[in-house]
Amino acid sequence: MARGTHDLRPARWLSDSGAVDPLEVSGGLPGRLLVSREQIAARIAELATEIDAAYAGAAGPLVLLCVLKGSLFFTADLARALSIPLEIDAIAVRSYGAGTETSGTVQLLKDVTTPLGGRHVLMVEDVIDTGLTTSFLYEHVERHRPASLRLVSLLDKPGRRRRAVRIDFCGFVLPDEFVVGYGLDLDERYRNLPGVHALDQS
Ligand code: IMP
Ligand code: MG
Repeated sequence: MARGTHDLRPARWLSDSGAVDPLEVSGGLPGRLLVSREQIAARIAELATEIDAAYAGAAGPLVLLCVLKGSLFFTADLARALSIPLEIDAIAVRSYGAGTETSGTVQLLKDVTTPLGGRHVLMVEDVIDTGLTTSFLYEHVERHRPASLRLVSLLDKPGRRRRAVRIDFCGFVLPDEFVVGYGLDLDERYRNLPGVHALDQS
């Protein structure tokens, strides 16, 4: 196909460019839809009702702490579903190298900028897998001496837990499969899929 003036796809995706996306030849394409965008939206509305109730009457605005980058969309949608006063901050950590296995060590890439001392803080995670990232975050954020520290996670994969972590609000419990979409990536790809898909690794 010739590249027309209205074709905004990057050149490497076009069949006449000669270049091929490596993920498309090595397998690792998003497969079965596990959670649809409609199911996510409905569950977020329920979670927001629970969270609104849990913080009703709390002193000061809640700090929603987005754990970058996976919970970007979840934080954005949850924040807009909540009625309580809130602020948003973000923290970035990395535990995965390339691929679908955790490296086992957690690295802080970007710290919070809001002073969290005496504040009610709700960490917003995309998925809890081994629990290593979350236990690191609990310890790290506790050092700021928040008034309270809780966790909401869109997804939970309890089958792979290596460290026990408390999840105060949970969207969906999934079987032990690597998933992508709605913020979750494979080597930075597929975050923008509207639903959550199991990765077809065949
Ligand atoms: P944990 O430290 O093993 O619990 O993993 C936490 C982080 O690893 C999550 O916040 C995700 O960024 C990433 N992760 C874990 N499981 C998946 C998955 O199935 N797909 C994409 N990313 C994942
Ligand atoms: Mg990730």
